[in-house]
Amino acid sequence: MAMAVTTLFPKISPLVHKTCFRNFIASVSFATFAPAVSADKPRHKWRQPVVSLVEIGGVKIDKNDVVRDDPTNNVPDTIFSKLGMQLHRRDKHPIGILKNAIYSYFDNNYQNKFDKFDDLCPIVSVKQNFDDVLVPADHVSRSYNDTYYIDSQTILRCHTSAHQAELLRKGHTHFLVTGDVYRRDSIDATHYPVFHQMEGVRVFEPNDWEGSGMDSTSYAAADLKKCLEGLACHLFGAVEMRWVDTYFPFTNPSFELEIYFQEKWLEVLGCGVTEQEILKRSGKVNNVAWAFGLGLERLAMVLFEIPDIRLFWSADERFTSQFSSGQLGVKFKSFSKYPPCYKDMSFWINDSFTENNLCEVVRGIAGDLVEEVQLIDNFTNKKGMTSHCYRIAYRSMERSLTDDEINDFQWRVREQVETKLKVVLR
Ligand code: DAH
Repeated sequence: MAMAVTTLFPKISPLVHKTCFRNFIASVSFATFAPAVSADKPRHKWRQPVVSLVEIGGVKIDKNDVVRDDPTNNVPDTIFSKLGMQLHRRDKHPIGILKNAIYSYFDNNYQNKFDKFDDLCPIVSVKQNFDDVLVPADHVSRSYNDTYYIDSQTILRCHTSAHQAELLRKGHTHFLVTGDVYRRDSIDATHYPVFHQMEGVRVFEPNDWEGSGMDSTSYAAADLKKCLEGLACHLFGAVEMRWVDTYFPFTNPSFELEIYFQEKWLEVLGCGVTEQEILKRSGKVNNVAWAFGLGLERLAMVLFEIPDIRLFWSADERFTSQFSSGQLGVKFKSFSKYPPCYKDMSFWINDSFTENNLCEVVRGIAGDLVEEVQLIDNFTNKKGMTSHCYRIAYRSMERSLTDDEINDFQWRVREQVETKLKVVLR
């Protein structure tokens, strides 16, 4: 099973494989997927209350400004309620502990030179998230199927790279940005529509590379690799590592760092030498820079041996009490596993069907009680109609689910895939 998505843009992205498999349609028509509609049935008492106001970086954000019944909006209530959570700012949470460990590495090795930002608002413009970092106009990550849009020009950032250009423009030359990022995606143990990333950027001046005998790009690339190898060592100890050439729109050359961990090569981050165009637009003409982006959940799942990404959001004391500030890599002890319950559902898809839309429907109904949505059968008949069969695994990590509860979920899922996705149940 693939680990939590760290990077969006590698040339051979796991996303690309998945989307091909899913018969991806570049931009989904909202006529077929009504946004953010709360269940028409009365809310059940196990549902978490939906907050209506969050505060981020001193700014109050009203739910009605983020979740709107408008064809350019695809943010559901469940996603809005994650906006102010900021797991990365909790010192006793694995995500916060990991962030602090990375901050210490930079503080210790660069004499506190890196400015740190971890309270930047996740609501950004399309320009900040995509244009400013040179993401092509037709890139799949811009689609409504992959990104949460508040309106046609405003989104929930899908990576912390969204802040690179503005911070460069403001004159920062060494910085780390940590934040929650949002992506519409499939459902399994390593994917969740909200996760956390850290971005790092370092800018060099001519006198940094002059005299090194290297050209500016090679100098920055060498410094980048040294810095990140040191970071991996700081987090994982003496592990085997390798660099893999890749592609990102914002860097050239671009690399991924993989480490050999528990008998597997694991991609831990994406990075590269910043495209000159980004520096130029930020008013930096005689400089070179490097940048990296890493996914905190992916690293934390490995370091703390946390088996399911939903656990990060659990308020259950059996989870939260296992971690303490400054304690990186304490191994998580699973509490009793409750049995999963599987429900299958088959339907004829239409041209605008996507798995991400299905997953949003299922999560809108079952929330974190859905563990996995898996395509288990896919065929096209002689008339050219395509049928998909999905298996939905429902499981709570905190208690046993009752038959009634699961049947009620499944009944509502069936009803909503028909009304919202306009598929024909078989
Ligand atoms: N933004 C990328 C992603 O989410 C990760 C990344 C790759 C960030 C390379 C960078 C970078 O700053 O240089 O997939």
